[in-house]
Amino acid sequence: MIEFKRVSKSYHDGKIKVVDELDLTVNPGEIFGFLGPNGAGKTTTIKMLVGLLTQDEGSIKVTGIDTLTDSLAVKKITGYVPDQPEIYEKPTGMEYLNFIADVYRVPAGTRARNISRLLETFELTGATGDLIQSYSHGMRQKLLLTAALMHEPEVLVLDEPMVGLNPRSSRLLKEIMRDHCNRGKTLFFSTHVLEVAEKICDRIGIINQGKLIACGTMDELHRTPHAEGKSLENIFLELTANHEPVSVTGKNSNQ
Ligand SMILES: Nc1ncnc2c1ncn2[C@@H]1O[C@H](COP(=O)(O)OP(=O)(O)OP(=O)(O)O)[C@@H](O)[C@H]1O
Ligand SMILES: [Mg+2]
Repeated sequence: MIEFKRVSKSYHDGKIKVVDELDLTVNPGEIFGFLGPNGAGKTTTIKMLVGLLTQDEGSIKVTGIDTLTDSLAVKKITGYVPDQPEIYEKPTGMEYLNFIADVYRVPAGTRARNISRLLETFELTGATGDLIQSYSHGMRQKLLLTAALMHEPEVLVLDEPMVGLNPRSSRLLKEIMRDHCNRGKTLFFSTHVLEVAEKICDRIGIINQGKLIACGTMDELHRTPHAEGKSLENIFLELTANHEPVSVTGKNSNQ
């Protein structure tokens, strides 16, 4: 479970609030999609969640652990793939995976089994002896996904994971995401691909100018004013055009 309680973050000496009193709960077993226009605050929110940024106000808890007071414990149970696949250039793919597995202290058996399964899934097996500097954008993305998944994290956080993936890898990633949630684990991901979000998310949150303006299942979003029968794309475009917070029939969590 992930819980944001009145989380805010500002830049420029507090003049620009890029995340504004975010209240949000993501339950285990659900695929949660975080949507919003460019600059809405998605990556900032994600970086606070995984401990790369510190919020100015509010609290974030991951499976009950506070990200400020026990950030290492949160990192141990979290798999994170950033929006930009920035990664060391010099090691080979396999050296990188073993390095990450050492950091997470993944036991030898689990390591071998998960690395070989994930590399095969992402069709990367043949490239693991090559230096990462020779990898394409999509290959780097898939290596980072493998690294994030191989320690079997309780919570998976993906910032625009479909970018750069070919259709087969994108399909496989969606299956991996579903499988992760079917095992009762938590998944939080951001995307601009609204068709994918509509199909695979159990719940969706829309952030605009730092404020969560809608949150719920597709059924709940459909019950907001003027949204009945509309695609997620149309609901998103209308909501983010008028900037006004919309009250949804469901709460922003299932609790
Ligand atoms: N280090 C920083 N210093 C100042 N402003 C920043 C910094 N990082 C982000 N911002 C600003 O915070 C706002 C939110 O950025 P963020 O990266 O969270 O948006 P996003 O929703 O992830 O957008 P995108 O869809 O383009 O990835 C933007 O206006 C951005 O310019
Ligand atoms: Mg972003």
